Amino acid sequence: MEKELTGLPRRDFIGNVSKIGILGTLAAFLPGSTSAEVLESLVAKPEEGHVFLAKPYLQAPAPDSMTIRWITNKLCYSWVEYGETDLSVKAHNVSDGLVDAHNRINQVYLSGLKPGTKYNYKVLSKEIIDFKPYSLKYGETISSDTYSFTTPQINPSSVSWLIMNDIHDRPESIPHLMNLKGTDDYDYVFYNGDIFDYQTDEQQIIDHMLKPSIEAFASTKPFMFVRGNHETRGKFRRELKNYFSNKGDKGYYAYQWGPVYNIVLDTGEDKPDDAPVYAGIVDFDSYRREQAKWVEEVMKSTAFKKAKFRVVMMHIPHFHSGDWHGPMHCRELFAPLFKKYKVDMVISGHTHKYGVWPPSEEHAYPIIIGGGPSDGNRTLIKIKADAKTLKMSMLKDDGSEVGSYTLNS
Ligand SMILES: [Fe+2]
Repeated sequence: MEKELTGLPRRDFIGNVSKIGILGTLAAFLPGSTSAEVLESLVAKPEEGHVFLAKPYLQAPAPDSMTIRWITNKLCYSWVEYGETDLSVKAHNVSDGLVDAHNRINQVYLSGLKPGTKYNYKVLSKEIIDFKPYSLKYGETISSDTYSFTTPQINPSSVSWLIMNDIHDRPESIPHLMNLKGTDDYDYVFYNGDIFDYQTDEQQIIDHMLKPSIEAFASTKPFMFVRGNHETRGKFRRELKNYFSNKGDKGYYAYQWGPVYNIVLDTGEDKPDDAPVYAGIVDFDSYRREQAKWVEEVMKSTAFKKAKFRVVMMHIPHFHSGDWHGPMHCRELFAPLFKKYKVDMVISGHTHKYGVWPPSEEHAYPIIIGGGPSDGNRTLIKIKADAKTLKMSMLKDDGSEVGSYTLNS
C-alpha cells in the first residue's frame, strides 16, 4: 500500500500530510481496497480549504420526500436545515444508530414532506478536526446559500421533464442545452446516459456533470440519471453510483409521475461481455436478463397498466442502433415485453444521430433518439403530458425543433 502511495502523481497536498495520515484517511472511506489512484480521488484535501466541492443538488424526488446531496473537501459532520417558511427543521442521515459523519460525499433524505409544497433549505458541514474514540474535535462550519424546491403533488394532472444524453465530457453542453428550454416550467431533468466518456475520478464527476447541473438548475430542480455504455468504463466506474440517489438504489428503476409511468433501464455495454476491451470484468448479459425479469413484474402492475402513458428511457435503443450485441440483446429481451405490455414511447440516445422513429412493423411505439455530443448534433428533449396528450419536442443545439411526436391517451 505504502509503495503504491509513493507512486502517486505528486500533488501539493501530499507535502504536509504524513503517509500514515493519508492511510488513516483512506481507511475511513472504503471498506475494501482499491487502487491508490482511485483512493487519491476520494481522499480529503484539508490544505485546499474547507469548501463545498459540489453545492447541493436534488435527487430522488417524491411527493413526501427529497434527497439532497453535496460534497465537501474536508471530513465533516453534515446536515440540512429546511422548512416551509423558515429553516427550523434539521435533518441528517442515520444508519444503524450512527449519524453520518466523518465523510465528504453527503446525502440527506428529507422525509415526511407535504406534497406539492415549497420548501426552503440550506446545507451545513462542520469540519471534524480530530476523531478520537472519546473526544471528537469540531472545526468551522460552512453553510450553503438558501435554495428552495417544490415536492411533486401526489397525483398531479400533468408532468413535464427535460432529457439530455451523450454529453460525453463536454460540461458546457449542459447549460447550453438547458438554455434552450424557454420559459416553460418543468418538474425535473433526466440524464439518459453517456454524460462521460469513461470514469476517471471524482473531479471529473464534479466538473463535467455536477457543477454545470448545479449552476444551471440542480439546487432547485431534481435530476435523475441512468448510465450509458460509456459510464461502465474506466477505473472509477464502481464509485460512480456513490454520487447519485435513485429510487430503489439500483441502476434501473420505475416511477409514476402524474399521467406518466416511467421505466428506466440500464442497457449496459454495446459489445459482447467477452470483447477483449472489457478484459473479462463485465457481465451485462446477466444484468440485462435481471432487468427483463424485473421489468415484466413492473409491467404487470395495475399502476403501469392504468397509467395514461407508459414511457421507457434507456441509453441504447433496441432498434435503429446497429446490430452490435448490446442493442440486439436489448431487442431480444425487451422488445417482446414492450409489445406485450403496450409501451407508448421509448426514449434513448447512444447513436449520436438524433431522430424520431414512428411506430413500424418492428415496434408499435415511437422510438425517440437524442443526439450528441458535437455542436450541431446535441439535443434537448422536452416532454409534457397531461391526462389526454403527451407531447415530445426535440430541440437541436441552435434552438430549432428537429423532431416532435404527440401521443393521445
Ligand atoms: Fe454516446
